[in-house]
Amino acid sequence: MTMLKKNVTDIDVRGKRVIVRVDFNVPLDKKTGEITDDKRIQAALPTIRYLIEAQAKIILVSHLGRPKAGPEAKFSMKPAVDRLSELIGQPVTLAADVIGEDAKHKAELLQPGDVLMLENVRFHKEETKNDPVFARSLASMAEIYVNDAFGTAHRAHASTAGLARYLPAVSGFLIQKELDVMGQALQNPKRPFVAILGGAKVSDKIGVIENLMDKVDTLIIGGGMSYTFFAAMGKEIGCSLCETDKIDLAKSLIEKAEKQNINLLLPVDTVIAETFAADAPSQIVCSGKVPEGWMGLDIGPKSISEFTEVIKDAATIVWNGPMGVFEFEAFAGGTREIARAVADSDAVSIIGGGDSAAAIELLGFADRVTHISTGGGASLEFLEGKVLPGVDALLDKNPRRTMAAGNWKMNAGTPAEALKLVEALKPAVAKAASEVVVAVPYTALASVVEACSYTNIKVAAQNCHDQDSGAFTGEISAKMLAGMGVSHVVIGHSERRQYFAETDESVNRKIKAALNWGLRPIVCCGETLDQRESGETLSLIHSQIVAAFENLTIAQAAFVTVAYEPIWAIGTGKVATDEQAQEVCAQIRKTISELYDEETAASMRILYGGSVNAANASGLFAQPDIDGGLVGGASLKSDDFSVICLAGHA
Ligand code: PGA
Repeated sequence: MTMLKKNVTDIDVRGKRVIVRVDFNVPLDKKTGEITDDKRIQAALPTIRYLIEAQAKIILVSHLGRPKAGPEAKFSMKPAVDRLSELIGQPVTLAADVIGEDAKHKAELLQPGDVLMLENVRFHKEETKNDPVFARSLASMAEIYVNDAFGTAHRAHASTAGLARYLPAVSGFLIQKELDVMGQALQNPKRPFVAILGGAKVSDKIGVIENLMDKVDTLIIGGGMSYTFFAAMGKEIGCSLCETDKIDLAKSLIEKAEKQNINLLLPVDTVIAETFAADAPSQIVCSGKVPEGWMGLDIGPKSISEFTEVIKDAATIVWNGPMGVFEFEAFAGGTREIARAVADSDAVSIIGGGDSAAAIELLGFADRVTHISTGGGASLEFLEGKVLPGVDALLDKNPRRTMAAGNWKMNAGTPAEALKLVEALKPAVAKAASEVVVAVPYTALASVVEACSYTNIKVAAQNCHDQDSGAFTGEISAKMLAGMGVSHVVIGHSERRQYFAETDESVNRKIKAALNWGLRPIVCCGETLDQRESGETLSLIHSQIVAAFENLTIAQAAFVTVAYEPIWAIGTGKVATDEQAQEVCAQIRKTISELYDEETAASMRILYGGSVNAANASGLFAQPDIDGGLVGGASLKSDDFSVICLAGHA
């Protein structure tokens, strides 16, 4: 998984309206409505201050709490706005609504350096549904989108992932830092790498355990979930927490650790009590010897010293989940001493959000660790190796990162066939540097979109209609595709030009419709064998490109990928030579620079398509003007397609 995303310093924000997703979901005092902890607001300050300094016109958007039925005064952003205003020492305007007249009017009035906050974005139920109409309306207030809400980055909501469909999207400093620190630890850790996992349930941490198992040297398991592991080893756990349905899983994780030579450490002793209460009398016993009627509530002193020794020698530590019931002082010892050991160590230490972050704050060690993630669910999913939609949606650092787009045409059209293909593809391409796209038949789109969420596989349609709705029997609009969560659409494929009367004009209309609904068009062009033999190739391609981009703004053009597909090479097994493909792709880039400018041309992603296969992909993709491939036949064989996906660069 690559995390090379643009951040706010990679884009010119001066004088531009910039919508920033922040996480101001701060805890409020139930009685007074005052903010009890402003850490989340503080965490967003570097980005906000940077934007003020850079003279952007700043529009902040966040959620707060869980409003159920539209606007509710108790979920207003007002307290956050007041606090932010104090912290930055300048007025912050609060809009009366989110996408209503007041918000739009106030956004219009913004002067460079001004800060406007929209009302709670969850006053609209469309937010959590990532509704394209809502996201587009939100986006219409701004020219650039900055995501700095790591805490909601694991959600594909309109204000997290949705905005990025319509605006150039970059990360703020908070997300950048989260990704840098955690990404580095996972991808290239200093060793020994020790993970400490605790918390009540194995089921919450399965993904993390499995993902970290391939990376760490030592895995320490404490907290409530350790008892399921002891149960798996046939030990006595009394009435400690145990997920009986996870015992087999715990067994297989123990076996896996053994097989991979990972030092899996469980507590050797346990603090037990007869009741779950702050003042319950306690005893210390050997782990796995908890008497009937007693439950383990913390790790014991021997475990603490054993774990501390390992932590001392670590060079990288990731900690997620407390060692015991730290909310009760009598059972906080394990968590406190592990926190102390982590704080004392010289290792890069990362506390993965949620409970463990709360524990380390409460116990007073917060300023002595390298990084405390601001995301609970988000950091957990990150540690699981999942793709976070709010991060994935941001612009790649390299706009010409290789794209491997599979065009299934009229194949694998049943959900079962389609899922078989993508399920095989998922693990094979999880580490691909390329952007992986599959263009599936309409009948399988919904299932494939669902199956590919939280993965690095994007889903494209093979065509769209240019109208949103109307009497066009059999057609599918870009709007309908956007509503399904499709991210890309192939437009003007030669088969459509050849058999379905697709013209340069209809291609242009479809590109506009796709962009209007936040879909990324993959626009095809190409010549027939006759045209090539009569020397018309370059002039024909030039005119196809000019027509395709007619009346597209420079900002719209930046969202388009072009695919050069010589018709004589499609499905024929006759691949263009590297030189032939390069010559035409270079000419496409030249045309783009004439239509727009050098920068737009230099950033445009241009693919080659036509009999790309596992053997020829890397040669083609290495050409200076070829940034990937649109792959037909070979994309139906997951082995071949994964080789093609792995042939690219980030
Ligand atoms: P092919 O198809 O790779 O099977 O030649 C390419 C395409 O139609 O995009």
